[in-house]
Amino acid sequence: MTQDEQKRAVAAAAIQYVPVGSIVGVGTGSTANYFIDELAKIKHQIEGAVASSDATAQRLKGHGIEVLDLNDVMDIPVYVDGSDEITEHLHMIKGGGGALTREKIVAAVAQKFICIADQSKLVEVLGNFPLPIEVIPMARSYVAREIVLLGGQPALRQGFKTDNGNVILDIYGMKIMNPVELEAKLNQIAGVVTNGLFAMRSANVLLLGTDSGVKTISI
Ligand code: A5P
Repeated sequence: MTQDEQKRAVAAAAIQYVPVGSIVGVGTGSTANYFIDELAKIKHQIEGAVASSDATAQRLKGHGIEVLDLNDVMDIPVYVDGSDEITEHLHMIKGGGGALTREKIVAAVAQKFICIADQSKLVEVLGNFPLPIEVIPMARSYVAREIVLLGGQPALRQGFKTDNGNVILDIYGMKIMNPVELEAKLNQIAGVVTNGLFAMRSANVLLLGTDSGVKTISI
């Protein structure tokens, strides 16, 4: 299977986790886009969706799926999203598309996080993919200096603004041996909105696309 076929296969497999009549949390990115296309096929069986980005909201609406404001929603049984890197412990790096903060918020509300990923995303240690940090613009230089003290090499994502009006620093050169600890540490830096480590709230289930089909990993 090609990478794209794997993404499609895991997106289709995620539909079985969507309870009838529920509000579905929907992630951002190319794999999540395939999931939206699958969700459209069962749109009459769900109440609506909560989007993790403006782009996802647009795509959901384009398919005629109602997009709800998270503040009006009490219960999200399942959140489905892709990942930039994921370990067998289901810790992730996310935010390659810059939607990490809203993704983290919707994931926090959801009872279950279903990660859908092609096999290239499975790694032993996180950090080869640059770790995105959403930062309040006035704190950019300060946060960058603090990241250097932690051993990372920050780079400003050029010409990019998040849906929340902030900037992204991508951290290169980190071998993340303790993602839970680093996630907490980065969030302590003044000016950091959030970081792309999803370790405290990891995935519950990974649907991994492989050459021999979809593999399910849960912890
Ligand atoms: C968006 O901000 C990201 O967290 C994406 O979920 C992640 O980058 C995976 O994207 P792809 O499915 O496009 O690889």
